[in-house]
Amino acid sequence: MCGIAGCTGGLSAGAVVIASLKRLEYRGYDSAGITLGGSPLRTVKISGKVCSLERSLGPDDCLATWAIAHTRWATCGAPTAENAHPHLSGDGRISVVHNGIIENFAELREELTGSGHVFLSETDSEVIPHLIEEYYDGDPLRSTASALRRLSGAFGVAAVFERHPETIICASVGSPVVIGLDDGRTFVASDVQALAPYTRRVIRLKDGEIARLTPCGAEIFSLADLRPIRPEISDLPVETSVADKGGFEHFMLKEIMEQPECCSNALKGRLDFDRGTAVLPGLGLSPRELARVSRILIAGCGSSIHAGLAGAYCIEGLAGIPVSVEQASEFRYRNPVLEPETLVIALSQSGETADTVAAVREARSKGAWVTAVCNVEASTIAREADSVIPLRAGPELSVAATKTFTSQLVVLYLLALLAGRNRRLPFETASRLLREAEELPCLIREVLDEAPAIKALAEKYVRAEDMFYIGRGNLYPVALEGALKLKEISYVHAEGYHAAELKHGPIALLDELVPVVALVNPEDEGEKVCGNIRECLARKAPVIAVVAGKDMPDALPVRDIIRVPACSRFLLPAVAAVALQLFAYFFARSRGCSVDQPRNLAKSVTVE
Ligand code: AGP
Repeated sequence: MCGIAGCTGGLSAGAVVIASLKRLEYRGYDSAGITLGGSPLRTVKISGKVCSLERSLGPDDCLATWAIAHTRWATCGAPTAENAHPHLSGDGRISVVHNGIIENFAELREELTGSGHVFLSETDSEVIPHLIEEYYDGDPLRSTASALRRLSGAFGVAAVFERHPETIICASVGSPVVIGLDDGRTFVASDVQALAPYTRRVIRLKDGEIARLTPCGAEIFSLADLRPIRPEISDLPVETSVADKGGFEHFMLKEIMEQPECCSNALKGRLDFDRGTAVLPGLGLSPRELARVSRILIAGCGSSIHAGLAGAYCIEGLAGIPVSVEQASEFRYRNPVLEPETLVIALSQSGETADTVAAVREARSKGAWVTAVCNVEASTIAREADSVIPLRAGPELSVAATKTFTSQLVVLYLLALLAGRNRRLPFETASRLLREAEELPCLIREVLDEAPAIKALAEKYVRAEDMFYIGRGNLYPVALEGALKLKEISYVHAEGYHAAELKHGPIALLDELVPVVALVNPEDEGEKVCGNIRECLARKAPVIAVVAGKDMPDALPVRDIIRVPACSRFLLPAVAAVALQLFAYFFARSRGCSVDQPRNLAKSVTVE
């Protein structure tokens, strides 16, 4: 959730790490800091965003030839300058940036305090430079390794030493660290996004590896015994360099607008009209193995859970396989029952969400086949799962998931089709579903064309402080997602409810100040949702109806209507979600909120 950047070599390492940090800022942005190489080391830390850190630096700072830096999402200690990274050893000669969590930091801190170390922050991370100082014997690699072996938890770390100019030591234990190679310069970061402008040649540190970086390159060792390891150098795919807003005011709007293309990418090469089925080699199961699957369990967090809930409707509806959708955070703590015939789907945009990683490990340890549905193919979840179906949505930088959500819906739709054909879904039905899937990019484009009208509605309701989102059937997860989008980027209280559940309690909160967004599919429980809308209107709540097709199923006095194209009920969640994304975006923008980097949030949540 935090970001690490480092560079050694060249005449502008300071400027390079600041630029890298900006590319990582979507991951965490409460506070930031940098250590510039030299004697003495110079460390600058601020509470706030990377641009404030940049403003605190002088022109000479940018010319340093080695530097490490960090952007933080606060876990242990408030987002203050003191708690920002880098953290220093007692003598100020060792500086460390850290991602992750050190579970035994309290006992280490007590031990180090006992031997005279003084701590300046509330963080778990600060024990690392003090521990390295304790073990320092003139060799930065050996002393860092000795210190890191004392830690339990997950960590990505980079350290610099005043007495070892232009050397960076970095290590990875359960938290990603990637090294970039260039002529005369070597980089380190927690995410390839940071390296894309500088190099395509990267080494991804594996779990339990430590590296020594100099301007001439990287040497990799096993953290356990410092045995040298031959590095695997890979090439960065081209799209990781696409990190600009493309003329849009925010990444979120750009990513919403990219959805027709993302859906096309998610569908590309996966529709087999001849056999009337979907093709998902990433699933890694033969037709016979898939036929044996008696239950599917989908695990994820946040938006991924909502996509999973909508996907469950498809899978149960088309394939007749029972599906349960689990919050990954609960999964491993309730000793779940997994039969050998259970297929576990780990849904995650980032592939780094700690709870979902833990769910993958739990499911695999119980012998289940785990398929990751992931946007980042080099992520922990994608690597640890038995198989991976990529989302192919391209990098998503806004904290709010948009294009990856609709891509998840597309992949689950295809999975439902494939599993359905593997059972009793007739060829004709499947062929129709395939044709409808092909239409999805156009349907989404039609919703995007409604952006001006949706903007006007968002501005009309911009003063609301509480909102409800309601839906039935597979539009219920879309209601949950719409409410999540609104609350995370506008800080307005929004709750998603099953339309029928409203009267079991939450209706007590409705009055003329609490708008209700109601999702209506006239072809699927439309009359029933209209009944629920009537209940809201009777409590004077203003209603915004998102309606599939031209007509409301019933004559209702609702004037604020967002029309989305009528389509197959299995695809409607993707279409309706786009309308709610636009509504949330324009609502938050009108309130002057930081749309791409909402307060308190981070793009990938790598702590439990
Ligand atoms: C979505 O808008 C959120 N930012 C968040 O709920 C997110 O979906 C969740 O943290 C799960 O992330 P993942 O898909 O990367 O695992």
